[in-house]
Amino acid sequence: MSSTKGLEGVVATQSAISSIIDDQLTYAGYRIDDLAENSSFEEVIYLLWNQKLPTESELKVLKTQLREEMALPEAVIAHLRSYDLSTVHPMAALRTAVSLLGLYDSEADEMSEDANKRKAVRLQARMATIVAAFSRIREGKDPVQPKDNLSFAANLLYMLNGEEPKGIEIEAINKALVLHADHELNASTFTARVCVATLSDMYSGVTAAISALKGPLHGGANERVMKMLTEIGEEENAVPYIQERLERKEKIMGMGHRVYRNGDPRAKHLKKMSKELTELTGQPKWYNMSVKIEEYIKKEKGLPANVDFYSASVYHSLGIDHDLFTPIFAVSRVSGWIAHILEQYANNRLIRPRAEYTGPQTQDYISIEKRS
Ligand code: COA
Repeated sequence: MSSTKGLEGVVATQSAISSIIDDQLTYAGYRIDDLAENSSFEEVIYLLWNQKLPTESELKVLKTQLREEMALPEAVIAHLRSYDLSTVHPMAALRTAVSLLGLYDSEADEMSEDANKRKAVRLQARMATIVAAFSRIREGKDPVQPKDNLSFAANLLYMLNGEEPKGIEIEAINKALVLHADHELNASTFTARVCVATLSDMYSGVTAAISALKGPLHGGANERVMKMLTEIGEEENAVPYIQERLERKEKIMGMGHRVYRNGDPRAKHLKKMSKELTELTGQPKWYNMSVKIEEYIKKEKGLPANVDFYSASVYHSLGIDHDLFTPIFAVSRVSGWIAHILEQYANNRLIRPRAEYTGPQTQDYISIEKRS
């Protein structure tokens, strides 16, 4: 038996949710470029969960359901308040709070298709509320209730900032949500599928997925991109900073991808938003610096920017705290996790691969007094 490190190139399942073929990403066959330019995040949620675009009335129903399910159980809010707010990372808070949500859902272990669809809406809606509520609570403010007349994207910003966002801000966050929603068998989605293939419940699957997304090689990269940009400080420092990191054989966050070789098709949309928003906020240096880094890494290492690279300056321009970048990624990606969880349940088989053994040959047990 021989193994493939990191399962690179291994086709581990069949899926009708999203595809990456020749560096093009589609959700249920719809090109990501079309969706980013035209669709609302709610439409994309519907698309991922049903593999078809919603009619107007189907979309209206989903929007209403999402808004109605946004409120958190009081016990979850109380729990968020009980964390050590000066040290707890919001991604850890989100992971723990989502696990806790399962304790307050009487249907958590109910595995019928209808119950799973109801839980899907609850999880999708409440992850946004948890991220916003945690952010407000640690600022010493009360959580903000969502508004009935706002879209999912607008409500997310409204619940974070307590002010209704401007048109361009809604456009940017909606685009970011659409672009991050699903990505074939990425690490966190695979984690979710492995978990629920044991017939564990949806809350467990999503909690496991959040845990995988948290790592710096996956969703945690966007926060680290902003940390890097902040350390660089000014445009002229960008290339020397990157040169030094590359000489030390360090990885540059937001660059490279396991699947894409010629470029991540999501990056250009966020690059455009980054340009517009950084100009609007009078801080074009974040965009200019990012372009310099992107060009340099491309020239030196042949690596393209991935989705996390320009999302950093977009979120920063929207006034979002840097440690909330990955939780916001999760608020979007949960739509894809849920789609994959439902697909796994619908045609389940336990996921249990093998390992190529590299330890010692079979040997006789040594009693403790004879061991050196
Ligand atoms: N910066 C510098 N070098 C990089 C790099 C980066 N971001 N990404 C890959 N490389 C280099 C590696 O050092 C390695 O070089 P070597 O062969 O000389 O040792 C080579 O490219 C292959 O890298 P590897 O880590 O094996 O590729 P992978 O397919 O396992 O990794 C990622 C894919 C995304 C994990 C990787 O590109 C990375 O760590 N990127 C930064 C984190 C990030 O942005 N993650 C978000 C992904 S959407």
